Amino acid sequence: MADFSGFNQSCQEKLPLVIACMAFLIATAMASKIHTHTFVIQSKTVTKLCATHNIITVNGQLPGPTLYVSNGDTLIVKVFNKAQHNATIHWHGIRQLRTAWADGPEYITQCPIQPGGNYTYRFTITGQQGTLWWHAHSSWLRATVYGALIISPTQGESYPFSKPDQEIPILLGEWWNANPIDVINEATRTGGGPNNSDAFTINGHPGDLYPCSASDTFRVAVKTGQTNLLRVINGALNTDLFVTLANHEMTVVAVDALYTKPHKTQVIMLGPGQTTDVLVNFTKTAGRFYLAARAYASGQGISFDNTTATAIFEYSKGSLSTSVTPKLPKLPMYNDTKTVIKFEKSLRSLASVDHPVSVPQKVDENLFYTVGLGLINCPNQSCAGPNGARFAASMNNHSFVLPKSMSILQAHHFGIKGVFTKGFPDNPPLQFDYTSKNISTGLWFTEKSTTVKVLKYNTAVQVIIQGTGILVAESHPIHLHGYDFYIVGSGFGNYNEEKDSKKFNLVDPLKRNTVNIPVNGWAAIRFVADNPGTWLFHCHLDLHIGWGLAMVFVVPDGPDYVSTLEKPPSDLPKC
Ligand code: C2O
Repeated sequence: MADFSGFNQSCQEKLPLVIACMAFLIATAMASKIHTHTFVIQSKTVTKLCATHNIITVNGQLPGPTLYVSNGDTLIVKVFNKAQHNATIHWHGIRQLRTAWADGPEYITQCPIQPGGNYTYRFTITGQQGTLWWHAHSSWLRATVYGALIISPTQGESYPFSKPDQEIPILLGEWWNANPIDVINEATRTGGGPNNSDAFTINGHPGDLYPCSASDTFRVAVKTGQTNLLRVINGALNTDLFVTLANHEMTVVAVDALYTKPHKTQVIMLGPGQTTDVLVNFTKTAGRFYLAARAYASGQGISFDNTTATAIFEYSKGSLSTSVTPKLPKLPMYNDTKTVIKFEKSLRSLASVDHPVSVPQKVDENLFYTVGLGLINCPNQSCAGPNGARFAASMNNHSFVLPKSMSILQAHHFGIKGVFTKGFPDNPPLQFDYTSKNISTGLWFTEKSTTVKVLKYNTAVQVIIQGTGILVAESHPIHLHGYDFYIVGSGFGNYNEEKDSKKFNLVDPLKRNTVNIPVNGWAAIRFVADNPGTWLFHCHLDLHIGWGLAMVFVVPDGPDYVSTLEKPPSDLPKC
């Protein structure tokens, strides 16, 4: 049967006549497919970096399976949990119109799938195309439980650029020579910081700059004259990454599955959660070239994994050679904030007839959220964080803690009290000089709560996300579930409404689902709350989400069928 949940904004924008829109949707529904997959979350033994490890995988693969779908298609993924940990799968960047039950963050839209349990995720891709991904959304499981989700344009539509000769997913990951769940559990026990990772990976391979990894290197054959599309995904747990390809220029054409104006660059930077599509012209006649990924570490004095992952792009007429040493690209310094800001400021939405911009020109809700680290007191100063306290993080000084008895979506949908509280503040409880070098210790301390902000259906929302210098200032990749948003402005220091709002780009701002808040700075985002559900808004550094850098937007149903949440699936896991 035709699925009209696709009666969406983009159709109405392009085809204002209802009849034309209906005809378009019927045609789309007839062309759309249903893809059924089985994910078995299971343990697997792998040899990596000179040792043998037991890791949790999907179907024994690292990274997990790449899913290929088209806009308008429906995905049905049956997930069986055969591991010893609770697990859920999140479809990062998928809007989940009417299907918030399939979004995946544990205790937000569902209880986790317990060991031995299963749950089937069902959702339709509506008005989206490009590079997204999926990952576990439970503790640090996503370190090894993640994969690409590639959405082609609807049949009969095409890219806003010439069809590339090859399309190559490049999934960046972060690797510990230990069980990542043990690493975070130990840090949680002591209240201190966790061990840094031991490597970064490209499509699961660290590359030959690491010990015992000569054959654990991702290699791609390319031909002279080809133009290839690299779909780069930062799946690292806690690290922003620079990526560059030796002796080849890249042209950015999309981020987070949203097209951009073509932008030429030598280097790209992705916060965890972000994706970037680049076209590369392979113009050399021969040779081997490294694609390299290394940390952008914006927090001064914070230790980080300073290793470099590599893949090899090799020109070949037949079999691949190993006789030539690949050329290493020049990577920016780990603290090169200037390059990051220059790159991000140069990206703009495509803003074409087929891919129009619809940034709210006026806002109904004007929110101001601080984001940053903090501390929680421990009895007798017995914790391993600064001053014997426990590390925490917060938004507007609320350090988010997950409920335990049921998900926020269930509690909201069935009107059950006591699971969360409303009234997440629209402004910081105290105003202070957020980006000052010496913030008084009295402001370092935060408290835990499960507090949400209710947004009326169809409200135009602006959030100023203001970084703080509490403990240490650093860049935060802030991700919103269920929505894409426009980044209308950003800058260093404290946001100044009078001065900064005048410079907002309301013409062709970049649209995405994860924004990097500049270190010691701010960003302004806008979106329309047109998707009912309970949507996690959080830092995509898993370390920070665990410390409480999160909150939830609750969007009640709208007035009609297309704005009403579906009934919960009958197999929704119980807590
Ligand atoms: Cu990539 Cu809350 O997720």
